[in-house]
Formats: sequence, structure tokens, C-alpha cells
Amino acid sequence: MKRIVVLISGRGSNLRALVEARLPIEVAAVISNRPDAAGLAFAAGHGIATQVVDHKAFAGREAFDAALGDAIEAQRADLVVMAGFMRLLTPGFIRRFAGRMINIHPALLPAFTGLDTHRRALERGCRVHGCTVHYVTEGMDEGPIIAQASVPVLPDDDADTLAARVLAQEHQLYPAVLRAWSDGAFRLEGERVSWRDACTWPDAAHYPEY
Ligand code: GRF
Repeated sequence: MKRIVVLISGRGSNLRALVEARLPIEVAAVISNRPDAAGLAFAAGHGIATQVVDHKAFAGREAFDAALGDAIEAQRADLVVMAGFMRLLTPGFIRRFAGRMINIHPALLPAFTGLDTHRRALERGCRVHGCTVHYVTEGMDEGPIIAQASVPVLPDDDADTLAARVLAQEHQLYPAVLRAWSDGAFRLEGERVSWRDACTWPDAAHYPEY
């Protein structure tokens, strides 16, 4: 069975969705840069190994990233899955895991990279919004797109209601992508992701209607 390491910094609702999806994938460890991340308790409660690599304990980004990279490598994982991991990573770290690290971002990339995506989407009058799973490359939130899910922006939305609607999609999209990855359904080809059968995935089952 393929092994993943999940990186978190906080709540861990995407981690929970991945675990509860009972994928044919072993979660080798959950690693957090924050000792108080709620997702750590969830992982421990499900018998998953947890580790804290506290960024505050390191003199700088290079030292933190080196320690984090070593902790990941020790797990011999096939894929690094960032799920709400809120640290900017150095180019060296990203090169170390090039092609084997993915992230979920709460916007339809390439729109709205960075933080505060829901408020910014509302401010721009977007009629649709969503989330993106992508490979991690040196440009922040700029890596090759693996899959996306969209939601409508409704007239009465505020950033919280919109975030909740997007998050519900994240919880479907990330497990679906991981399942597809375990099946070998897509691969990275240069700057783009190519799907083995683009006609059947993603399909309607991944996008419940509103
Ligand atoms: C999610 O919105 C994810 O897209 C973003 O950070 C948030 C993490 O939430 N990268 P959680 O910790 O998985 O609940």
C-alpha cells in the first residue's frame, strides 16, 4: 500500500476527511509545525503516528525546513500531502520533494493565490468560487493543477458562509484525488497533470449539486 505523510498546522478537517474516507493508502504520519494543532489529537485518536516540528524552535527557515524534510523522509512516504499547512517553504525544501508533494488551496487557482481567498472572491464579485488540489512548486500556489471543485457564490454570502461551502467541497475533492493517485489515474508531465482517462474523472459524483 502506498504511504503518505500529511502536514497540518491547525484544525485538520481535511485530514479528518482523508482518514474517514478509508482510502487504500497508509497515513504513515501526521506532522505539524504547531504543537497545539487540533488535527494532532484527531490523528493520535485514530492510531496514526504524530510528530511536531515546531518552527519556533529553529533559528530560521532553512533549519526548520531541513528538520521537517528529514522527519518526512524518515517515514519513507510516496507522497507529502499538505492539508492546511501554513508555512512558506524554502526553494530547497520544495526541490527536495518536487513531484511528490501536493496541497489543497481554497480558491480556483490561478485566481486568488495566498490568504483570505473567500473575502477576496466576494470583493471581486465572483459568481463561482471553489478549491484546487495542485502539486507544490516554488511559486506560491502556482503548481500544476490536479483537480478542482467549484461552488456558486450566493447573494447573501459572507466570507464565512462561502468558506463553509468551499470546505465541504474540499472534504470531497481531496479524498477523491488521493484515491485517484493511489490508482495511478494521473501523473505529472512537466508543467501539467495528465489524467489517464480524462473523460471519466472528475465525474459528477465528485460534484454534488446545490
Ligand atoms: C483549508 O481551507 C485548506 O484549503 C487551506 O487551509 C484550510 C485548512 O483547513 N489550505 P483544515 O485544517 O483542513 O480544517
